[in-house]
Amino acid sequence: MRIHSTIAGLRAALDDGGRVALVPTMGNLHAGHIALMTQARGQADTVVATLFVNRLQFRPGEDFESYPRTFADDCEKLADAYVDHLFAPTEAEMYPRPQGYHVEPPAEQAGILDGEFRPGHFRGVATVVMKLFQIVQPDVALFGKKDYQQLMIIRNMVREFNLAVEVGAGETVRASDGLALSSRNGYLGEAERAEAPRLFRTLTKVVEAIHAGNRDFSGLESEAMSDLARHGWVPDYVAVREKNDLQSPTAHDSGLVVLAAARLGRTRLIDNLEV
Ligand code: PAF
Repeated sequence: MRIHSTIAGLRAALDDGGRVALVPTMGNLHAGHIALMTQARGQADTVVATLFVNRLQFRPGEDFESYPRTFADDCEKLADAYVDHLFAPTEAEMYPRPQGYHVEPPAEQAGILDGEFRPGHFRGVATVVMKLFQIVQPDVALFGKKDYQQLMIIRNMVREFNLAVEVGAGETVRASDGLALSSRNGYLGEAERAEAPRLFRTLTKVVEAIHAGNRDFSGLESEAMSDLARHGWVPDYVAVREKNDLQSPTAHDSGLVVLAAARLGRTRLIDNLEV
């Protein structure tokens, strides 16, 4: 695997790369990321992973400074997953001057759910992903379904800007107790780690209730939030939404997903389950 820290170096290396797949990451890689690399390997001649902790998508007071940075480990995992190129730029390379132009996703997509609790987050994500698309010029780019809203926003950005990239999705990878793998799981203390799978169990219960014919979505949402709160969580939301646009379900919904975000101690976890 070749490691590039400059845009010029990466571009020169990709000159004759055939079909290129991109997997953008912020590092601290786990099996979920590696599954995306494997998926990418099966779809392209050249696989490019990027590793960049993007300051633009963190709000003041969030965990930008403390976000786990495990470069040597990440390189080893990527090489083992047959990734061809790792682009790991410095902040000065990505943002040589303060970013003045931004991709602003519409409020009905970026101001709801996680966007309500992390204002500006998806603007930061869309802006860096647009930059990465321009830098790498991939034929296909892969994102995990764990960040369901991010995936929807990127798909819509690609469509509305007519970007020549296919967006692929990877299934959420879970620990054996159901907890969705996430770099932020590393923040959990021992007792919190034992409690954390409740988020997945809560989502599972909501999905089962919907399968059983319950259409009282707001009742299911508040029951789920109370259950989490009773066990020491501070839930931001549990929401039943339409899969394609994450709006509230209509009578003729086209498929549903249940999404949740909640804090356990100082760790904010998100998860979702398609119905
Ligand atoms: O999902 C992530 O890790 C990040 O939001 C992404 C897509 C790499 C952009 O910084």
